[in-house]
Amino acid sequence: MRILVTGGTGYIGSHTCVTLLDAGHEVAILDNLCNSSIEVIHRIKKISNRNLIFYQVDVGNKQAVEVVFDSFHPEVVIHFAALKAVGDSLRNPLTYYQSNVSGSMVLFNVMQNKNIKKLVFSSSANVYGDARVIPVRENVQIAPTNPYGQTKAMVEQILADIVISDSEWRVARLRYFNPMGAHESGLIGEDPNGLPSNLPPYISQVAVGKLESLKIFGGDYPTPDGTGVRDYIHVMDLASGHLAALDYINYESGLLTVNLGTGRGCTVLEMVHTFEKVNCVKIPYQIVERRPGDIEISYADPSEAYKLLGWKARFSLDDMCRDAWRWQTINPNGYNIDV
Ligand code: NAD
Ligand code: WQD
Repeated sequence: MRILVTGGTGYIGSHTCVTLLDAGHEVAILDNLCNSSIEVIHRIKKISNRNLIFYQVDVGNKQAVEVVFDSFHPEVVIHFAALKAVGDSLRNPLTYYQSNVSGSMVLFNVMQNKNIKKLVFSSSANVYGDARVIPVRENVQIAPTNPYGQTKAMVEQILADIVISDSEWRVARLRYFNPMGAHESGLIGEDPNGLPSNLPPYISQVAVGKLESLKIFGGDYPTPDGTGVRDYIHVMDLASGHLAALDYINYESGLLTVNLGTGRGCTVLEMVHTFEKVNCVKIPYQIVERRPGDIEISYADPSEAYKLLGWKARFSLDDMCRDAWRWQTINPNGYNIDV
């Protein structure tokens, strides 16, 4: 298939592109590079030994997006392009609504006009907010608690309405839990701008000596060791989830909504100790105050994805720690090879 991947030079998008190319698909990436590097294109080509097309375009630029559709003629779109930092979204809500909601609407309008009606959308476990019933199932009422999560919930709603209005649309809404790890080659991985806000890249940067120590936010949660619980999932498992979703929407019409998680909760301390053990490194840490807005426990019920897509996560926490560390040690400055 000819697949247009928006946000394809980003963390999850780049790994998904490798999986798509490995499966024999034709891939074009549309990305404005606001949170990624052009170097990713060379790395994807190197890993897959395949060619791909790159368009440096903002997804909210209707004319430019139309030109991409007219030149690449995609059959399906995977839409990763979005801003994703929760704290930043609290400070700059308009930027998030503009980029994530308005940008998506431009894309969906172009798709509708060009009669391309197959879409896989990156949603997030963030839409669940502080879900009371754990593990989280897709059918609970979503209740995001920050502008970033609101943008994901809004786009989910827009897609639901589009599917109701026109039965030719086939849409998968994938709710990812906490991605971690990197491609086994160590050539692509997570490369956050500035100080990482997520746990996995923070641990890697402490381990490599770029940051002094990890602050663990809260040691008094009602969890086995008092630290917060999350569902960390290998980024290559997320990538294969997209392949499974593409297969699904090729055969089934309507709207699919599934969690992509492992179904296994992991505390911050368990993550730290696993990273230390697997990679033979030390992670200095101190336990500090809870981070405002954090939830105690979040992990997926991934059974719907298994039932409908035949997909489940294959990689373990050990695998995630090992692959994250390989990427970090080979690329201590991420894609910034001039440093
Ligand atoms: P990322 O920032 O690494 O990748 C996003 C890519 O989109 C970047 O390459 C960026 O340059 C591009 N982009 C952003 N705005 C754009 C615009 N207006 N036009 C064109 N390109 C644009 O993020 P990621 O971690 O790979 O996340 C991918 C998707 O998955 C996002 O939609 C994100 O919200 C969602 N998601 C991420 C996580 C996570 O923890 N990483 C969890 C759940 C969901
Ligand atoms: C994980 C755990 C922290 C950093 C966010 C978004 C979510 C998704 C992923 C996009 C928590 C603890 C963290 C640190 C720590 N992104 N922690 N010290 O909060 O589950 O989710 O990113 O969709 O939408 O909300 O991920 O990695 O920030 O935190 O102790 O320096 O690690 O308190 O328990 P979170 P995270």
